Amino acid sequence: MNGTTQELKEKITALKERLDVTVVAHFYQRDEVFEMGDITGDSLELARKTMEDDSKYVLFCGVGFMGQSVKIMSPHKRVVMPRIACCSMAKMIGGEQYENSVQFLEANGITRENIMPVTYINSDADVKAAVGKMGGMVCTSSNAKTIIEKALEAGKKILFVPDRCLGQNIAKGMGLKSCVIGDGSDVNEADIICYDGFCSVHQLFTLGDIAFYRKKFKDIKIVTHPECDPAVCDASDFVGSTSQIIRYIKELPPEQKVAVGTEFNLVNRLRKENTYVLSSTKPECPTMNETTLEHLYETLVAIEQGEPINEIRIDPDTQKWAKIALERMLAL
Ligand code: 13P
Ligand code: SF4
Repeated sequence: MNGTTQELKEKITALKERLDVTVVAHFYQRDEVFEMGDITGDSLELARKTMEDDSKYVLFCGVGFMGQSVKIMSPHKRVVMPRIACCSMAKMIGGEQYENSVQFLEANGITRENIMPVTYINSDADVKAAVGKMGGMVCTSSNAKTIIEKALEAGKKILFVPDRCLGQNIAKGMGLKSCVIGDGSDVNEADIICYDGFCSVHQLFTLGDIAFYRKKFKDIKIVTHPECDPAVCDASDFVGSTSQIIRYIKELPPEQKVAVGTEFNLVNRLRKENTYVLSSTKPECPTMNETTLEHLYETLVAIEQGEPINEIRIDPDTQKWAKIALERMLAL
């Protein structure tokens, strides 16, 4: 580590001690930023643990929807982000596209009353609020199956937004029928109707990558995130959220080779021996990587100077309904 990085880390640590602030970091953050986190984890863990924290300021190192979720759940907290980087999947749907999807189902004979919407947490507050208003809820990659099981109890069609891959993977795992809006199939025949969104990073992992590693190492384990294409998940030995992947790999014997299909920073931080990135490219999340140690430092300085930057603000109506959708998830 060069002197500048070490100096910056020391300055950040000193600022954290002086200020009433908690630094929160997602697993996909750069290593040096991740190391500064007081609370670290996957999106569900961050949502839960941050709610229990009592600092005045939450400094969230992650992507926009994650900081928004903290603000929605704890409106009294001041939530600031070194970079309000927007997850590309979350950007694929807003309130208008959500409403268009509902209208598409209506035009195909499914009434609004017969739709139970579920939104992946990787979505804007507007979408969460629209889902909350229709009686629906939020899910993350680690609890999606539980949430869908609960949603099905209403006996309605599930509208799942925005990740078609997560929706299809969950449906497959539960023996349910799914379709993607616009794929030409009859929405009436599906239990789970998915919006056509996806993660640009997890689309990088292919069946060709799996074939390459299986040929190279006979007994290798293939591990992927449920945002990967359903065909890729089907060909994997284990599919799980970021925390579930970490736990799975920790339990493997050290000599077991494993190729992992999720974001590069996380894979690179796992045990160094016998772990491979399941891609011929470097699958970095550009928006997660926007946050640097310098940004973190500047954000703390701004708090100390009494002029916080990049503060998350949500209008009261959106906040109210998005909170209802998130609370329905957390209650499970
Ligand atoms: P997790 O819910 O596993 O933290 O995933 C969040 C995410 O953005 C994955 O791309
Ligand atoms: Fe969004 Fe994909 Fe990045 Fe996760 S990895 S934050 S889903 S763009």
